[in-house]
Amino acid sequence: MFDSMTQLWIKSFQEAFSERITIKLDPESLNGAAMDYTEDLHYLPQALVEPDTKEHVSEVLRWANEHGVPVTPAGALTGLSGGALPVRGGISMSTRKMNRIVEVDETNHQVRVQPGVIVQELQEFVQSKGLFYAVDPASRGTCSIGGNIAENSGGPRAVKYGVTKDWVLNLEVVLADGSVINTGANTLKNSTGYNLTSLVVGSEGTLAFVTEATLKLLPWPSHNALMLVPFKSAENACSAVSEIFKSGAQPSALEFMERAAIEIAQRYTDDYSLTLSPETEAHLLIEVDAFRFEDLMPQIERILPVIERLEGGDPLFADDEASKNSLWRLRRSVGEAVKAESTYKEEDTVVPRGALPELLKVVKKVGAEFGFESVCYGHAGDGNLHVNILKNDISDQRWDEELPLAIRELFKKVIELGGTLSGEHGIGLVQKPYMDLAFPERALQLQRDIKNAFDPNGTLNPGKIFPDA
Ligand code: LAC
Ligand code: ZN
Repeated sequence: MFDSMTQLWIKSFQEAFSERITIKLDPESLNGAAMDYTEDLHYLPQALVEPDTKEHVSEVLRWANEHGVPVTPAGALTGLSGGALPVRGGISMSTRKMNRIVEVDETNHQVRVQPGVIVQELQEFVQSKGLFYAVDPASRGTCSIGGNIAENSGGPRAVKYGVTKDWVLNLEVVLADGSVINTGANTLKNSTGYNLTSLVVGSEGTLAFVTEATLKLLPWPSHNALMLVPFKSAENACSAVSEIFKSGAQPSALEFMERAAIEIAQRYTDDYSLTLSPETEAHLLIEVDAFRFEDLMPQIERILPVIERLEGGDPLFADDEASKNSLWRLRRSVGEAVKAESTYKEEDTVVPRGALPELLKVVKKVGAEFGFESVCYGHAGDGNLHVNILKNDISDQRWDEELPLAIRELFKKVIELGGTLSGEHGIGLVQKPYMDLAFPERALQLQRDIKNAFDPNGTLNPGKIFPDA
């Protein structure tokens, strides 16, 4: 089992904490913490800890920091870049028991939450008070706020409302040495010192452990319209995206799905209510929202001529809640559906949205050069294309040796298009070999220096983000 060094620290760790803090060492619990949604990766921690107060988080971190034991923060383990995997063993520290919505401040349109709150639960809770938490990842039913903060998650509505960083006003965090600080203030404006809040959001648990977040809310936009538009040419579908914005419309979601993405999702959900015409290459799923029903039509009227100009087919309007839910279910299940279909590798490419047609071409060209099939879908309005490369019957050797070359080639082209490596899934473990493409060494070193200032002993989530980590 564990070597004697490990047995020693586990014993002393248990002696220090097991009376007050949940520590799990059984194989089932450790296995549960060894995987997220990223490919088929598996990294066992040696202990799983489930603190329920910031004081406990602080005590565990201080102890681990002094004893040289790595601590990997873990949310709901729905991540797609391996960010929460304890790749160096040690302690996996879960937010599971810190799952309270602490306070909804209706005067100031804010909510304070613990990191383990599931995003959809938060959305529904604030909606019951007429309020709106806008960040809406595809995995909202299972992902947690803490994980969203760690990865700066986005999702379909980011195109109108922004990503997690745009909604976090303030964080209470525990640093690697156990100190507890607030990164900002619960104010809408703040130009006081460096923006530590923005720095911690998206830092993938490498800088601090978030124990509470103050999030901004909006009044709930109670009306929306949803349409699915088929295109014979996937490239035209991509070209329609920037044209829709140029028309003056401001969609609350603008999603792209290649035909294969829909077909795979149909197989997975066993829902064939949508009939695909044989000549359709891709679809756009377009939502507009408003506070009043009569404000929807003016937006749709701007969008329809763009669709016609780019030879889109007749839009299918979802005219009741059930058909809206069914379309969203299809879209939200694509990721899981692809995972169920084949071993795959997911890239989270993002470019300025005008370059989306070019990005799709590049993906297919690199795929053809290296002999890899890809299924593409994602948040077209943000220029964010999820590229799922399927293993199918490719040999393990070719997959392991040639795929990284293909991905490197793809990322080079993405960067030439003005884009970058990840829009919303993070770098984590799986994208770190490509960070040299996104940043020159000086900029990477600056980021390492920041990591070092927060966590000089490298206790928090080692082995992530940096190519040499
Ligand atoms: C989605 C996840 C994979 O957009 O980001 O479905
Ligand atoms: Zn996504």
